[in-house]
Amino acid sequence: MDIKIFETTEQLDEYAAGLFTKLINEKPNAVLGLATGSTPIGIYEKMVENFNHKKVSFKGVTTYNLDEYVGLTPDNDQSYAYYMNKHLFSRVDIPSSQTHLPNGIAEDPEAECKRYDAMLNARPADIQLLGLGHNGHIGFNEPSENLNAGTHIVKLKEETREANARFFASIDDVPREAFTMGVGSILKANAILLVVRGSDKARIVKEALTGPISTEVPASLLQTHPRLIVLLDREAGRMLE
Ligand code: F6R
Repeated sequence: MDIKIFETTEQLDEYAAGLFTKLINEKPNAVLGLATGSTPIGIYEKMVENFNHKKVSFKGVTTYNLDEYVGLTPDNDQSYAYYMNKHLFSRVDIPSSQTHLPNGIAEDPEAECKRYDAMLNARPADIQLLGLGHNGHIGFNEPSENLNAGTHIVKLKEETREANARFFASIDDVPREAFTMGVGSILKANAILLVVRGSDKARIVKEALTGPISTEVPASLLQTHPRLIVLLDREAGRMLE
């Protein structure tokens, strides 16, 4: 595991965007696993900047997002499809046919999970970007006695709904279920880029990276990945020696 701690958020964003830029320049048809939430926003901003400065083109890139809320259409401004268009896809030259998220309004959710998994299995990500939940979740794989390997529907924990309520008009509007890639699909990526910011996540960072491997801390399973890169700001890394 390669852990880097940055003095400023901007340095972290530049470094992470630089990794994506380098990968895409070396492999123009790279497959990127992407995440939403507040953590990647600055990274996407820098990726767009790199694109605007002609340092990178996304024309040949394919993307798979980790998750999507059940019941939200792509034009709902709280859906992850909307988020990705707003922060990245509509601002670079990636063809929309090469961007993928689970379909939040799929009529047959089981079939949707199978469809998504078939795509992920056919072309595993060269790099999977991850944020970290306060309870150790990755994607929407919440702490549990058992974890699913493949794409599935999860009932969101109240603490996760509360954490995400800041993006919605009220907590009642936060969906109760989401599609998520399973931990098995996440671990299939060639490399994993875990990004964490903020002092409120220092404890879970320490637990996930140095504690026992347990399904009760889903991110702890990342310790088993041969190419795990962890980018932290100083606050998130403060409990690591
Ligand atoms: C988002 C996702 C989640 C978030 C996590 C952290 O696609 O899968 O696991 O990465 O909840 O969220 P933020 O970045 O908002 O703190």
